[in-house]
Amino acid sequence: MKKRVLITAGAAGIGRAMAEAFLADGADIWVTDVDEAALKTVPSSIRATRADASNEEDMARLFGEIETAWGGVDVLCANAGVSGPTALLEDMPLKGWRECIAVNLDGAFLAVRYATPMMKAQKKGVMIFTSSTAGLYGFPNRSPYAAAKWGVIGLMKTAAMELGPYGIRANAICPGSVEGPRIERVLEREAALKGTTRDAIYEGYASGTSMRTFVEARDVAAMAQFLASDGARYVSGQVIAVDGHTENPDPKV
Ligand SMILES: NC(=O)c1ccc[n+]([C@@H]2O[C@H](COP(=O)([O-])OP(=O)(O)OC[C@H]3O[C@@H](n4cnc5c(N)ncnc54)[C@H](O)[C@@H]3O)[C@@H](O)[C@H]2O)c1
Repeated sequence: MKKRVLITAGAAGIGRAMAEAFLADGADIWVTDVDEAALKTVPSSIRATRADASNEEDMARLFGEIETAWGGVDVLCANAGVSGPTALLEDMPLKGWRECIAVNLDGAFLAVRYATPMMKAQKKGVMIFTSSTAGLYGFPNRSPYAAAKWGVIGLMKTAAMELGPYGIRANAICPGSVEGPRIERVLEREAALKGTTRDAIYEGYASGTSMRTFVEARDVAAMAQFLASDGARYVSGQVIAVDGHTENPDPKV
């Protein structure tokens, strides 16, 4: 039977790379996203639904549709996340804090909340959470993002413990800075805040890794493929960075 893979925020970026990687493996894929235009670019062989990962009604409806169409789900990629505001703690707006926590953390929670009964009934399943290297260290000017991504790891570890007896595995991937439009927006915001250039911020981030690099979405997707595979059948409760090895999370650009 084909693997049934659900990816939240799968119409673009890392989630899209995951969808393409699992598709190449011959899996059935279902992606969700809030961006209708991006959803229209998804190949017709992939099911694509508009659903806000942080909205319970959307997620409940989505899982109802999955139950009807697929009767279950084998792999959940709880991937939705937004970068949130860039500001010092004392300037951080509560609204921006809450929006960041809502998508990154409530979004991961809702996906687990609704996938769990299906996976328990099947007595198997794999959950893959997209955290971040921001979930491994502090992150000056990005407090809601760091707090949410640490929270995702706590959620994942709890899921691994509660669900392990049912044959369900849960792991988190922590990407470093991923080349693409999202990180460009982050670099521009941080450059404006610090009164420097995008290139200086880019070099600073890259120099904080042992390999002096950013990563690509396909590198994160390859890790998700491995975690979903039989080769990882006893890998659970783990936090795996795909980041060229962060050695200095705050290079003080
Ligand atoms: N890009 C990076 O450098 C980086 C680094 C570490 C971790 N991450 C994490 O990886 C995940 C994916 O990031 P990305 O870089 O692909 O992001 P992205 O900004 O490229 O967005 C990918 C997709 O997410 C969708 N999306 C946004 N809010 C959503 C919501 N509420 N519900 C459903 N979909 C939503 C967007 O419409 C977009 O199509 C996130 O959890 C992010 O925090 C990204």
